[in-house]
Amino acid sequence: MLENPSSNLRHDPSLQISFPFQGRWVRKVFVRGLGVPRLQVYGVLRAIKSCLMPRQVRMRRQCAEEIAASGSVPLYCLEAWKRAGHRALRPAELGDLEPILTRCRTIRHDAEEERDLDSDRAKEFLHYVAVDQDFLAHPSLVRFALSEPILRAVSVYLGTVPVLASVALLWSPPETEGAKLKSSQRFHNDHEDTSQVKLFVHIDDVDSDCGVFTFHPAEATRRIRKALGTRRGRLDDVATAKVVPSEAPLTLMGPAGSAYFVDTSRCLHFGSRPAKKGRLLLQVQYLRCNSPAHSQLALGLDEKWAAEPWSSLQRMVLGLRDVDRAAFRQRS
Ligand SMILES: [Fe+2]
Repeated sequence: MLENPSSNLRHDPSLQISFPFQGRWVRKVFVRGLGVPRLQVYGVLRAIKSCLMPRQVRMRRQCAEEIAASGSVPLYCLEAWKRAGHRALRPAELGDLEPILTRCRTIRHDAEEERDLDSDRAKEFLHYVAVDQDFLAHPSLVRFALSEPILRAVSVYLGTVPVLASVALLWSPPETEGAKLKSSQRFHNDHEDTSQVKLFVHIDDVDSDCGVFTFHPAEATRRIRKALGTRRGRLDDVATAKVVPSEAPLTLMGPAGSAYFVDTSRCLHFGSRPAKKGRLLLQVQYLRCNSPAHSQLALGLDEKWAAEPWSSLQRMVLGLRDVDRAAFRQRS
């Protein structure tokens, strides 16, 4: 059941910022092809993008500094998060999650009724039940992805007000044990930037039978990558464990409604391995506006959506043009 069935969206690109260029192919050629260190390539790409959108970059950095100065994200929490690259969210940051969980379960139920999910997989071990523009039919989920405590925390962590880069409701179906591991079922870092934040919300209880999201914290990842090289995309468990033999990877398990921030660029991770039980996950990705290998917003909006009473911070994260720092200061 759609929450907003009458939404007759006509995306107006002039309402939102546009990104200078797509950096993904540059990464493929220079980092993977020619072996130029990723940090160098990304530094150059980020600098070029910053030069092409200087006002956006400056405004977002200054607003993040103001949020940090306001003390809305406790310093002890921020330092530990920056060191580890991950943290669990506090209930105060999440609000009442029950309607969000119910909505997500309904979307999956409806998707299953309407079509055979098995024949509509982006990856055979991971179904995209809803992605990006689909969420405009579910405004409560958009509002959750843009809730102020979450945006303030992510802004302080990244040192800039981010853009909403993607939203997805992901179903990892139960699979037969022993299937060969593929793509994101093996250890990897997400490559859009050198740092980013993904918010993961468990829609149902998740235990060790669910093919859980598994990762190494940022510091262990740094040592593993130093030993094994940044050019190699995906890594196997044995090679990884040899570098950090006494540090087992962490897993995200917990009851429905548990939520986590993970910097998937800094933390080696995998998920959705063969498991007895399926897993439904809401995933929201926040990126810097000048992220080297990413150039799109999650939601293309029309005038009706742009006219919603979003705060200045939310308008920035949606990539709407009609916000400036003065408005941010007045309204925050
Ligand atoms: Fe990933």
